[in-house]
Amino acid sequence: MAKKLVIGNWKMNPSGVAQAVRLIRAIGKGVRRYKKAEVAVALPHAFLHLKLPSSLRKGAQDLFYGKGGAFTGEVSGGMVKNLGARYVLVGHSERRALGDTEEIVNRKMRAAIAAGLVPVLCVGETARDGESHYLHRVKEELKSALKRLSRAALARVVVAYEPVWAIGEKAKGALPPEEALHMNLFIRKAFSDVAGEQAARKLKVLYGGSVTPANAGAFLAEGKMDGILVGRESLDSKRFLAIVRAAHLAR
Ligand code: PGA
Repeated sequence: MAKKLVIGNWKMNPSGVAQAVRLIRAIGKGVRRYKKAEVAVALPHAFLHLKLPSSLRKGAQDLFYGKGGAFTGEVSGGMVKNLGARYVLVGHSERRALGDTEEIVNRKMRAAIAAGLVPVLCVGETARDGESHYLHRVKEELKSALKRLSRAALARVVVAYEPVWAIGEKAKGALPPEEALHMNLFIRKAFSDVAGEQAARKLKVLYGGSVTPANAGAFLAEGKMDGILVGRESLDSKRFLAIVRAAHLAR
């Protein structure tokens, strides 16, 4: 059985390199015990140059779609890749809130693939409604992000389902884990419309939004999720490692 994937999204934290190094060391040491999980940390660009222990994969939180040139303040996929990253988050709701449109998300997906990165495409509705319009939103986000990707490119994509209302401190709490399986199957079906059944079967679908050591296992077991995208709890090595442990033990 494939390893469950746990990605910690540090967001714009911590403020200093010394704290980042300490956190990497603590997590890197702890995860060695949990070999049945694959663990990555999505670092701020400012810390991408740091060396990670072999037990940890490196990820970035964003990339720019241009290859190089006059784009002040931006960081290309090639730069991210050259700093040793394997994963890059694309279309995180906090990026979308800062102006990343569906067109931009699609360009970033293609740039990530072109750079040899594994894009972790984040999709999720901002609110739920009684008429399932939110499902339509999730499907549209997914399809527009995957436009003009080749079959080979589609086979590299990881999807993170993150209902926006469940993310961050102001969240109403996580998705009830019993609903995770439904969303998992829904996303896989929508992905299969674009990429074909075989690719959809192999697709990794992660859940993100208020994941804690207490609920992580349920998303993986009941929700049959292939992994977890962790925000706040990834900044506390003990709690993050407890989530990794749940992934290690998940069947
Ligand atoms: P959270 O964030 O775990 O703090 O809710 C998840 C995310 O934004 O990926």
